[in-house]
Amino acid sequence: MQSLGSDAMQVEPTAEDLTGIRTFSKIVNAGTKLRYKNPEPQRRNIPFFTFSGTSDYWNEKVQEDIYIKSQMGRYRIRGYGAARPLPHLTDIAFKKDLSQAGQDPDLLKRVEMRMTLGDKHGARPLDLSMPVMIAPMSFGALSRSAKLSLAIASRLSGTAENTGEGGMMDRQREAADQLIFQCLAGRLGWNVHDMQRANGLEIYISQGAKPGLGGQLMAKKVTRELAAIRGIPEGIDLRSPSRHPDVLGADDLVIKVEEFREATGHRIPVSIKLGAGRVRDDIKIALKDKFDYVELDGLQGSTGAAGAEVLEHVGIPTLAAIQEALDALAEIGATGQLPIVLMGGIKDGVDAAKALALGADAVAVGTSAIIAGGCIACMQCHIGNCVVGIATQDPEHEKRYNTPAEAVHIHHFLEAMRWQIAAITDGLGYSDVKQLCRDDLVATTPEAAKITGLEYAPQFRDPNLQLRAS
Ligand SMILES: Cc1cc2nc3c(=O)[nH]c(=O)nc-3n(C[C@H](O)[C@H](O)[C@H](O)COP(=O)(O)O)c2cc1C
Repeated sequence: MQSLGSDAMQVEPTAEDLTGIRTFSKIVNAGTKLRYKNPEPQRRNIPFFTFSGTSDYWNEKVQEDIYIKSQMGRYRIRGYGAARPLPHLTDIAFKKDLSQAGQDPDLLKRVEMRMTLGDKHGARPLDLSMPVMIAPMSFGALSRSAKLSLAIASRLSGTAENTGEGGMMDRQREAADQLIFQCLAGRLGWNVHDMQRANGLEIYISQGAKPGLGGQLMAKKVTRELAAIRGIPEGIDLRSPSRHPDVLGADDLVIKVEEFREATGHRIPVSIKLGAGRVRDDIKIALKDKFDYVELDGLQGSTGAAGAEVLEHVGIPTLAAIQEALDALAEIGATGQLPIVLMGGIKDGVDAAKALALGADAVAVGTSAIIAGGCIACMQCHIGNCVVGIATQDPEHEKRYNTPAEAVHIHHFLEAMRWQIAAITDGLGYSDVKQLCRDDLVATTPEAAKITGLEYAPQFRDPNLQLRAS
């Protein structure tokens, strides 16, 4: 660095100073070189001056984000879903006063919640004790123990678990009564033997957290065991392909559906997982291609790892997704002909009841289930250093996880959802959860009213007016 005499004032760096500074470059090497050299630093408190208070655009979170990017020289990767304010189910409310709902201890005997899903084309359907399922989450993103606890909880609550990407484990198969086997574009761990012992098959096209992108698993989580199940080299930053090599459009997709049905003797349902992007087109294709049901995931849906910008800004919100799906079916005179399981930011039975009233047939929960099972949102999911042993493959971290205890906690949470849905159904004067309907709802923000077409009733923003069922 040059200096200007005794003042020692700093000036522009010379070309010499700049040698060795890295520029952005695309990582193209295969194999074990396919890893970032500079992992994201663990989150730490940075003593920024909060000149802007809690402004949406300049705040501590934004400042930290800029700082971390400046240190790493690349975009950030993280777990969880979109965290910026977006129109959501919290922006709609039930118009009836439900503050007295849920007080009858025999409530569950009076409200019918059981449903079947997936018999549209003659398969043996899933038999769900309530319209709530566990969302697909991969063994890889989650530890073996966490996956097991979800499987056990799904059985205890009479609902279904989903393998997510990356294959089926024997113990998971044993623990879940009803297990859906998911097929992603990388076909990692996908095989005919596990197809045949599943209760449902699901083709993943995309997910709400990263529509148009495949799974992402950072090297630390690609252990020897995981690599063996997935059929890939150990210790690479794994990016699953974003599209199925043999599915270029709707006409290929229907062949895939037929292949799945043939491989399983037409016994089990075949569903499609869609991240909300071009929902109107996608839903019509799903109907045409004879899927039994759709799992539709909005922008608020979580993931184990994705680029932060994609998480926050790609896709459309869950509320808009369900509305577009319903509109798409109405446009072609097919209302009610394709069951929709909605997910993405559903955090309790109240959200679930609103989704059902809007027109979803069922919901699925990811984040709330893993929070119920001990997740403390330490935001180490993608790095694999999850302090409670959920989103990790490191045995030292995983041994902190108590599978039976957490399975019971997840089960409790699912039962709380059951109770809330039943309380709302009963409070609205119905005896079957299928009777929940749009007439029960109002929108509490102009955006939600515009998206859903519901009446705008800002007075219902008062949470005390919304609901006090528990
Ligand atoms: C740890 C984790 C792993 C996930 N893995 C998969 C996966 O393998 N396949 C998939 O379709 N979705 C996956 N997802 C997305 C969920 O299936 C679901 O779309 C999302 O979690 C729903 O939103 P919610 O978490 O707000 O309930 C994953 C989500 C999480 C949190």
